[in-house]
Amino acid sequence: MKIAMVGSGYVGLVSGACFADFGHDVVCIDKDESKIERLRAGVMPIYEPGLAELVAANVKAGRLSFSTDLASSIEGAQAIFIAVGTPSRRGDGHADLTYVYAVAQELAANITTPTVVVTKSTVPVGTGDEVERIIRESGTEVQFAVVSNPEFLREGAAIGDFKRPDRIVIGAEEEWARGVMREVYRPLFLNRAPILFTSRRSSELIKYAANAFLATKITFINEMADLCEKVGGDVQDVARGIGLDNRIGSKFLHAGPGYGGSCFPKDTLALLKTAEDYGSPVRLVEAVVKVNDSRKRAMGRKVIEALGGDARGKRVALLGLTFKPNTDDMRDAPSIAIVQTLLDAGAEVVAYDPEGMEAAAAIMPEVKMVSSTYAAVEGADAVALVTEWDAFRALDFARVKGLMNAPVLVDLRNVYDPAEARSAGFAYSSVGRV
Ligand SMILES: NC(=O)c1ccc[n+]([C@@H]2O[C@H](COP(=O)([O-])OP(=O)(O)OC[C@H]3O[C@@H](n4cnc5c(N)ncnc54)[C@H](O)[C@@H]3O)[C@@H](O)[C@H]2O)c1
Repeated sequence: MKIAMVGSGYVGLVSGACFADFGHDVVCIDKDESKIERLRAGVMPIYEPGLAELVAANVKAGRLSFSTDLASSIEGAQAIFIAVGTPSRRGDGHADLTYVYAVAQELAANITTPTVVVTKSTVPVGTGDEVERIIRESGTEVQFAVVSNPEFLREGAAIGDFKRPDRIVIGAEEEWARGVMREVYRPLFLNRAPILFTSRRSSELIKYAANAFLATKITFINEMADLCEKVGGDVQDVARGIGLDNRIGSKFLHAGPGYGGSCFPKDTLALLKTAEDYGSPVRLVEAVVKVNDSRKRAMGRKVIEALGGDARGKRVALLGLTFKPNTDDMRDAPSIAIVQTLLDAGAEVVAYDPEGMEAAAAIMPEVKMVSSTYAAVEGADAVALVTEWDAFRALDFARVKGLMNAPVLVDLRNVYDPAEARSAGFAYSSVGRV
């Protein structure tokens, strides 16, 4: 089957490469010429484990190609995916659908054979209706259907998630479109990945509900962590104690500096806007957004506290900047607010991140980026472990302590055992453990 993927970012590129790996004939389209040029030269625009190899193998096999020209690329495609960005609209938090509708307009003007237009971008309820209207009002006589197929992959584990999903959600109103989607996902169907067919609107809402629920789970355990610090509990024991209950589950119960990334912050905000528009408030999610926002700066204050309450003239080393390990994505990373809090308090900030420094440097020009963990900690008055990259999981404590100006370690990901860190001579603090 021929598939066109419009938008070759995290989702479009990973999905396109995986569909090609299933045996489909895939063209990934992007209007960013330099991105397409780099992809054609085998250079990945993002860091995602295994992606370069997957892309190379499928290009070599002749199943995957890249283009900036939508009109010629979509010819004969039975499924055309829209995988462009839907960032928060400045000012009101609504999902900005400009890119999605621009693609719909281009498709309206260029489809020539029957096709299913599949929205993979995360879009508010009713967007599929609008995409359908745009295409229909263009007066096209070509048969088409608009389907919702939200993506649940996680950056850093995207290929595994795409190929072995917990479920595939497809919101389609027409039976023939469901048939095309079954073909698209047939290899996964054979692997018995559950495919859930729903209405288009339910499917659109499922994506937001899933992200809001996960954001709630993280925020819940973060507040339990704060309480643990007050009452003398250990949040990891609490998380394990509740997570072993099958009704709760152990995932997403890791206390930390608050959720960030390209999805949760913008998707929770967009859900609030939808709820407001429809007069059906989601108060729980409202609270989650507020609590998480204030948490990121609170983590900066935690570092200042570890410095004795005054950060002026102190040097703080941050280990990790990306919102999670195994990605170079800096969108809404908690490190941004932590850095700002430290700079506001007069600290000098040095950082090392295995993959995120290029993107981070553009966002936080005041931070001095260095090329290794040990270069970062040199002369530091405090080290804050912000992102739990594997590279930070087995620090040579003696070496770190020897290089630092003062042995203060703030572990915002609870990577280390407090007793061990303290016996190595660190003034150690973490999240939800005393
Ligand atoms: N990143 C994730 O982990 C993730 C996971 C699930 C869902 N999503 C959703 O998937 C969507 C895409 O996210 P992303 O992270 O891949 O975004 P991204 O910003 O990495 O990629 C979007 C790409 O679309 C391209 N684009 C924009 N307008 C275009 C047009 N008219 N024609 C062709 N290309 C165009 C951009 O140049 C860019 O390369 C969003 O709605 C997001 O919420 C993302």
